[in-house]
Amino acid sequence: MIEIIPSILSADFARLAEEIARVERGGATMLHLDVMDGHFVDNLTIGPPVVESVRKATKSHLDVHLMIENPGRYAADFVHAGANSVLVHYEACRHLDGVLELIKKEGAMAGVVLCPATPVSVLEDVLEVADYVLLMSVNPGFGGQRLIPYVLDKVRKLAGMRRAKKLRLPIEIDGGVHLDNLTDVVRAGCDWVVTGSAIFHSADPENTVREMQRIAAGANAVTC
Ligand code: DX5
Ligand code: ZN
Repeated sequence: MIEIIPSILSADFARLAEEIARVERGGATMLHLDVMDGHFVDNLTIGPPVVESVRKATKSHLDVHLMIENPGRYAADFVHAGANSVLVHYEACRHLDGVLELIKKEGAMAGVVLCPATPVSVLEDVLEVADYVLLMSVNPGFGGQRLIPYVLDKVRKLAGMRRAKKLRLPIEIDGGVHLDNLTDVVRAGCDWVVTGSAIFHSADPENTVREMQRIAAGANAVTC
């Protein structure tokens, strides 16, 4: 089953609980929270206190994407704040294996993220340690960008590595996914699809989630 995961980056932060309830009425059971520090990326967003407040407002799975320098220093704080899964960038981790193990020890799923220009081959050996992998389909930092097409080749390559190693870990994609490219994204091999502006900037976010789930299920049925 393909998960459509709304990214709250494009939601109205003054009405966050309401915005979350809307996408949950559409069927979303996972939410994506983007943490940015103004160093690893040129933008600033939220920290653990906001994750803690969101945790109180929903039972959905909270998928926290750390776009920060030295993520190992803060990862446990986000698990304690209520994250169910925590994503750290390969490009920001000096000791990736140790940070993934730390997240798992704290009780959350540990995910590794690659920026568009980082090849999936760097994951060859660490794939068994990660619970899931996120391939960025835009350069991280901002919502509303266009999907970079070559990332779908990376998805296919990673799906091949997963098959060869007999692993079942979900492949997640983040950035520029809309109704019109969702079928290609799912057919490339993505299981978890993050999408922000396509949902929250649409006229009816509840219905857009439903529509995306319908398209994803149709695309997946052809792939299987
Ligand atoms: C961008 C973030 C994304 C962002 C995606 O750096 O990681 O999660 O919210 O937004 P859209 O779907 O608008 O590209
Ligand atoms: Zn993200």
